[in-house]
Amino acid sequence: AAELPLQGKHVLVTAGPTREQVDPVRYFTNYSSGKMGYAIAKTAVRMGASVTLISGPTALEKPAGVNFVEVISTEDMYQAVMKEYPDQDLVIKSAAVADYTPRIKYNEKMKKNKENWSVEMEKTTDILSVLGQKKERQILVGFAAETGNLEEYALDKLKRKNLDMIVANNVAQEGSGFSVDTNRVIIYKKDGSSIEYPLQSKEKVAEEVLLQALELMPL
Ligand code: PMT
Repeated sequence: AAELPLQGKHVLVTAGPTREQVDPVRYFTNYSSGKMGYAIAKTAVRMGASVTLISGPTALEKPAGVNFVEVISTEDMYQAVMKEYPDQDLVIKSAAVADYTPRIKYNEKMKKNKENWSVEMEKTTDILSVLGQKKERQILVGFAAETGNLEEYALDKLKRKNLDMIVANNVAQEGSGFSVDTNRVIIYKKDGSSIEYPLQSKEKVAEEVLLQALELMPL
C-alpha cells in the first residue's frame, strides 16, 4: 500500500556517536546526538519496514517497534553491523563513527604526573567501506558530514565506498548537522542525479531519505 511503502523490507539504521576509550575514565567522541538516525528509524517503522537500529550512546529514548542494538565503540558497531547486514534490503549509516581510536587503551586511570600527554591514535575500521565491498542486493546509503567542499567530498565518498546514495550535510551551517532538530542536506545518487533541500526538520529529512532510497530498490 502507498502508506506502507517499506512493507516487507528490512532496514538497518546506524545512529549516534561512537566512543573511544583511552583509560577507564576518559574517552574521545563527537557531537552526534542520534536525532538524525533515530528519526530515520522511526519513519521507516511508520512506513512499514522491519527496522534494526544500531546506536552509539545517546540520551534519546529507544524508538518503539525497532530491533534495538546498543553499542559503544566503533569496533562494537562494526561487529553489530556485520552480524545484521546479511538480512537487510536497505542500510542507512547516519552514525558519526569515530575515525580514530587511541592505539593504547590503559587499564588504569592515567595519573596527572606529566605536563603534556600525547595520545597516539590509529584508524578505525571504515564500516561503510567494508559494506560497500560486500554489497550484493543491498541498497547502501551513507551520510557525509562536511564543513566545506560538500559536493566534492560527498561524491568522493559515494564512489570510493561503493554507495547507492549519499546524504551530504554541511555541519558548519547554522541549524544544520550535529545535535540540532533540523538539517540541511543534498542527496547525491549513483546515477549522477542530486536533490538539494532547504533547512527542514530531521523528521522531514528522514522521510525524504527513505523515499529516495526506495526509488533505488528492486521491486
Ligand atoms: O546525530 P545528530 O546529532 O542528529 O547529527 C546528525 C549527523 C550530523 C551525525 C548526521 O547527519 C551525519 O552526517 N552522520 C554521518 C557523520 C559521519 O561520520 O560522516 P563522515 O563523513 O565522517 O562519514 C561518512 C560515512 O561513513 C558515514 O555514513 C559514516 O557513518 C561512515 N563511516 C565513517 C567512518 C567509519 N569508521 N565507518 C563508517 O561507516
